[in-house]
Amino acid sequence: VLSKSFGGVDLVKHFAVIGDPIAHSLSPVMHNAGYKALNLAADYQKFQVSPEDLGEAVLGLKALGFSGWNVTVPHKETILPFLDELTEEAVRAGAVNTVKVDKGRLIGHNTDGSGFVRSLQEHMELDERQQIVILGAGGAAKGIAMALAPFQAQLCIMNRTPERGAELVGKVLEWGGQAHQEEWGRGAWLVQADCVIQTTSIGLKKEEYPFSLAGIRPGTLVVDIIFNPWETPFLHSAKAMGCKTVNGIDMLLYQGVNAWEFWLEDKAPVESMRKALYQALA
Ligand code: ATR
Repeated sequence: VLSKSFGGVDLVKHFAVIGDPIAHSLSPVMHNAGYKALNLAADYQKFQVSPEDLGEAVLGLKALGFSGWNVTVPHKETILPFLDELTEEAVRAGAVNTVKVDKGRLIGHNTDGSGFVRSLQEHMELDERQQIVILGAGGAAKGIAMALAPFQAQLCIMNRTPERGAELVGKVLEWGGQAHQEEWGRGAWLVQADCVIQTTSIGLKKEEYPFSLAGIRPGTLVVDIIFNPWETPFLHSAKAMGCKTVNGIDMLLYQGVNAWEFWLEDKAPVESMRKALYQALA
């Protein structure tokens, strides 16, 4: 039974995630485990919201007294017009994954990028000496590149469609980061990489990865933002070449941790949340 009250007032706080589809979201497991660990009077639910119902759903959540909610595919950009204010992270990403209700105002925030950065920092330092290769230039790549921009690391974007890659390079430069594009599938860049981040949807579709990692230095940190499968064929071949591999589970964890800390303005119980998440996937 959750008993700890907030600010001396015995109120239960409600949180949620909205998306479509939403059935497989692990956010409720992770957040509810955190509330339980700290004995907080809070709950976290998931709601399927179709695109045409998004505006009504936002008003409904607010009317029902929700304190905040996460937003996932396909609403991360379309929710913007329904919000009152955006944080700098949300503006930079052009997308919202976290909404907080603050004195009746809806504040849109983004913790996808900062969550990724926090998970990456458990494995490497981030500064202007690092060469980071980002494979892909879709929504996920954009969130990651924009969050890495302030660290001044050298970002090398590679994308099948070069126009999209160029657009992302332009955005990073516009926000004061360091980025350039290399041709998709060209191997020379790998030799210099300190870190390679795979963001394309190839692994999700269980397709064969279209180019080889030949030339990559053993010990290079190789990340795939997917965690289902736990080890994508891409990570498998990176591991075979002596690279240090990391999947996307901690990116999910830390976007949740950062959302928690934005909502509750206090430290989240990271290890309880991590344990619940890993157990749910075991
Ligand atoms: P997400 O939000 O998951 O990033 P997205 O915005 O649709 O999804 O982006 C998908 C990314 O995967 C893009 O970088 C896409 O490359 P294109 O811009 O060339 O489309 C990449 N991608 C998907 N399937 C691919 C494939 N078979 N080969 C190479 N790149 C692929």
